[in-house]
Amino acid sequence: MAEVFARSAALYDRVKRVIPPIEWPVFAGDIEAILDLKRQRNAVILAHNYQTPEIFHCVADIVGDSLALARKAMTVEADVIVLAGVHFMAETAKLLNPDKTVLIPDAQAGCSLADSITAADVRLLRQRYPGVPIVTYVNTSAAVKAESDICCTSGNAKAIVEALGVPQVIMLPDEYLAQNIAAQTAVKIIAWKGHCEVHERFSPADIRQLREDHPGVTVLAHPECPPEVVAEADFSGSTAAMSDYVGQKKPARVVLMTECSMSDNVAVDHPDVEFIRPCNLCPHMKRITLGNIREALQQNRHVVSIDPGIAGRARLAVERMLAI
Ligand code: 13P
Ligand code: SF4
Repeated sequence: MAEVFARSAALYDRVKRVIPPIEWPVFAGDIEAILDLKRQRNAVILAHNYQTPEIFHCVADIVGDSLALARKAMTVEADVIVLAGVHFMAETAKLLNPDKTVLIPDAQAGCSLADSITAADVRLLRQRYPGVPIVTYVNTSAAVKAESDICCTSGNAKAIVEALGVPQVIMLPDEYLAQNIAAQTAVKIIAWKGHCEVHERFSPADIRQLREDHPGVTVLAHPECPPEVVAEADFSGSTAAMSDYVGQKKPARVVLMTECSMSDNVAVDHPDVEFIRPCNLCPHMKRITLGNIREALQQNRHVVSIDPGIAGRARLAVERMLAI
């Protein structure tokens, strides 16, 4: 035990506020092996803000929100990309790096938003609203992206909708994100009825209770939360925007209305901020572990591949977004 701590002291020091010492020996062996495998395979690990701290802070090379991961995926020079996140994120990385090997440690790491809509649904919407541009959240399959005009993330949705210069757009598939953006723009938005199973569970009553229990708390909410929740919050933005808010404004007490690991990951860099931690777990994000990242690198699995019949059109929708 003492030997494990001695070998990984610098890494443990970084996460000691969010990982109890009793858990560290369980993680340390996998972390060492993964760092080794990355060198052997010339691999990088991209990790979303919802990954657990031992992944986010100890093995990832690039971290961020969906937008940052997509942008940074374009600049990766390694041969292998391991996407510690959910399947649509791995597909986006593959779309932008068709010649690289992209691995997702658990192929079942899905997303309730991506599951809420099919390519056939998008084709029907196009028939129903001819000429209205289709803006598709990156939380969708490549097949759905291929039927869309342009993608967006929670970090750029307003800018994308407004950049199109049209009075009306269709925005898929997150109804609440669409409603939250509609409240900030003159562009009329036609929404779909998809919801994030993590964020739809927060309510305005939760926020009122938090304010009563923790006077002075600053409430930040992800825009996948229902509009009534966003209305009660002090700020709403993507996972990266919430993290930046904490870094820049340094609230004395904060609560992030989002996935559980987010607070742990942000807290590591802000020991002076008190984090109140009600949160909802994303069961899909939590499928990714150090153990299956290690296996992914050892056994080259699960390789992400995209049907060539849809990859070109899906890539175009992502690239149009990145160009704005
Ligand atoms: P961000 O783009 O804000 O990181 O959100 C992705 C996501 O899946 C949120 O639930
Ligand atoms: Fe999908 Fe919600 Fe999980 Fe994000 S938190 S991956 S939107 S289910």
